[in-house]
Amino acid sequence: MLPKKIETVLAQLEKYREYEIQKELRGEQILKKERSLAITREEGKFLYLLSRAMKATRILEIGTSFGYSTIWLASAAKEENGKVISVDILPEKIVRAEENLKITRLEDNVELILGDAREVLNKITDPLDIVFLDADKRDYIDFIKLSLKKLRMGGVILSDNVLDCPDIHKDDPEICEELMEFINTHPKLSSVTLPFLPNGLEMTMKISK
Ligand SMILES: C[S@@+](CC[C@H](N)C(=O)[O-])C[C@H]1O[C@@H](n2cnc3c(N)ncnc32)[C@H](O)[C@@H]1O
Repeated sequence: MLPKKIETVLAQLEKYREYEIQKELRGEQILKKERSLAITREEGKFLYLLSRAMKATRILEIGTSFGYSTIWLASAAKEENGKVISVDILPEKIVRAEENLKITRLEDNVELILGDAREVLNKITDPLDIVFLDADKRDYIDFIKLSLKKLRMGGVILSDNVLDCPDIHKDDPEICEELMEFINTHPKLSSVTLPFLPNGLEMTMKISK
């Protein structure tokens, strides 16, 4: 479906993710900077198709990691001469993403930013079509509040890990309930949980100003 160069990088990253999962299952540690924690191929394809359907030209991704999800989003943005702004707080991750994007030749459709997503969100001026959240779930409510100010009407916020959130945050599972409560009671938002397993992706639309 996508150009061969892109499919090759995606396949390599999927292989790495599988290796990571197997290592975790054996109880072996992986350094934080070496964990890709990428979304599944199914989710990636959904990000691509939704972005294409929305003809998205301005996409913000919070949580680049090795660039797996960035590649799906940027492949869609390229079709509209659009851009993905992707931010990660770890320098090692940005370096890995840069290397991967270079091979895909999608660099012109991606702006990689090293830093805290809050600062990046505060600086954004043009309206966004899509915001993809894939970072620390404890920050999602803040990110959604900030994103709402930058999102166009009918724009979409996609929040990853809404189904496995209680597993990820065993120490503080209430944050997951608070997040869903916030999204589902917000007067400007309409939302649905897409049951991509194991993560779960929340698709939230800005329905009023
Ligand atoms: C689950 S990984 C992202 C995986 C990536 N979206 C993919 O599917 O290929 C989460 C990433 O969020 C980054 N992160 C966490 N908190 C952040 C913050 N406040 N601002 C920017 N990046 C952050 C982490 O460094 C990590 O690389």
